[in-house]
Amino acid sequence: MSTVVAIDGPAGAGKSTVARMVADRLNYAYINTGSLYRALAYAAVTSGIAFSDITPEFLAGLQLEFRGADLYLNGVKLDAQLRKPECAEGASIVSAKPFVRDYLMPVQRNAARNQWIVMEGRDIGTVVFPDAERKFFVTASPEERARRRMAQSNEIANGATFESILADIIARDERDMNREIAPLKQAADAILIDTTGLTIDEVVAKIASYC
Ligand code: DC
Repeated sequence: MSTVVAIDGPAGAGKSTVARMVADRLNYAYINTGSLYRALAYAAVTSGIAFSDITPEFLAGLQLEFRGADLYLNGVKLDAQLRKPECAEGASIVSAKPFVRDYLMPVQRNAARNQWIVMEGRDIGTVVFPDAERKFFVTASPEERARRRMAQSNEIANGATFESILADIIARDERDMNREIAPLKQAADAILIDTTGLTIDEVVAKIASYC
């Protein structure tokens, strides 16, 4: 038995911070599924493989699992490495491949087994857990998301400007929303939370009030 709260939405909408805080408040486990796609991008970079050249055979040679909220690749815990811009970029590219999404489906479903969980991503409420008890679609204007990203200096490339970050966000939205498989979109039964102009505490309180 598990209870799933699905939190989906575009990059930079504040999902991760909010999802983690909602999980803490409800005393649920927290899983960030973007880290799975980022881990595959990281595996490609460290193996010297172009993102577009990832194959099912390459994935079959990897061991990827959550231990609690921590993600392990081949027995090594991943964390700060995944926040680098090339992993974000690579994650968005590899996530458009159907065999990649198939490979990650059981990893995500197993992570929710036998526990109450807040799971964050792009397609949790639409594809991974279409029967999730609660679904939220958290978004904010591209400009607000670019402003927030500017403030997270560890996640931006050297020399990045507000304009270049905004352009990256718009390009990533475009790719995530227009891919053929499991595109980023609001589930019909998800509650829309626009975080533009709201503080993190206000967003957390709003989501928790529905749970
Ligand atoms: O949430 P994030 O920025 O860490 O996600 C990185 C990329 O992974 C994002 O551009 C799209 C992809 N992704 C996805 O396709 N499905 C998910 N459930 C989570 C992330």
